[in-house]
Amino acid sequence: MPISPHHTPSMPAPGALEIRKVSAGPYDNNAYVIVSRATGESVIVDTPAEPEKVLAAAAGTEVRAILITHCHPDHIQGHREIVAATGAPVWVHQSEAEMLPLPPQHLFQHLGAIQLGGQSLTILHVPGHTTGGTAILWGKQLFSGDTLFPNGPGKTWSPEAFLQLVSMLKERIFILGDDIAVRPGHGADTLLGREKQQFRLFESRPHSPDLCGDVLWLAPSTAPSRADPS
Ligand SMILES: [Fe+2]
Repeated sequence: MPISPHHTPSMPAPGALEIRKVSAGPYDNNAYVIVSRATGESVIVDTPAEPEKVLAAAAGTEVRAILITHCHPDHIQGHREIVAATGAPVWVHQSEAEMLPLPPQHLFQHLGAIQLGGQSLTILHVPGHTTGGTAILWGKQLFSGDTLFPNGPGKTWSPEAFLQLVSMLKERIFILGDDIAVRPGHGADTLLGREKQQFRLFESRPHSPDLCGDVLWLAPSTAPSRADPS
């Protein structure tokens, strides 16, 4: 099944894709290899340090695309090696295309889709952590990049960016089902329903207009720093 930027509505088949999670580098970055059980084709989500770990997870598959959630350095430290080894075309949001060490072949469009083994991966533009922050949805699996983690959103560097990220999460992520597994760009997974519940409590409370940084939904004023430096 070719990978195409055209959206083909179809019901995701549970189990049609296998998800291989790779933890890599000093900041506990996650890369994911999503494999079609039917065709053996795969896509790689993010290219962090220790690219050999990502390539090992993709071994035996035909890598058809590399999807970059955003271009902070820790997510692309292994980019050259993974591109060189797979020869796969790279997708990224237009606003971050020039941050990659190599020119990408394709640009994400919000609500665009990428086909993998007859399954459709939906692209969601979720700016705020970065201008081109992108999440990828397949069925009940959400690859959230650094937009959403257990207990809080991704880091922001200004109150405006924080408000933008919250707005985008409300509009594009929190409308999705509670039983969706959130697979972030660092650390542990979570369930979207759990995060939506915490966010509702956050939203019910007053907050400083200056709020930004490493915000936790339930402890915005005492949030510890996350390992993510960027
Ligand atoms: Fe980041």
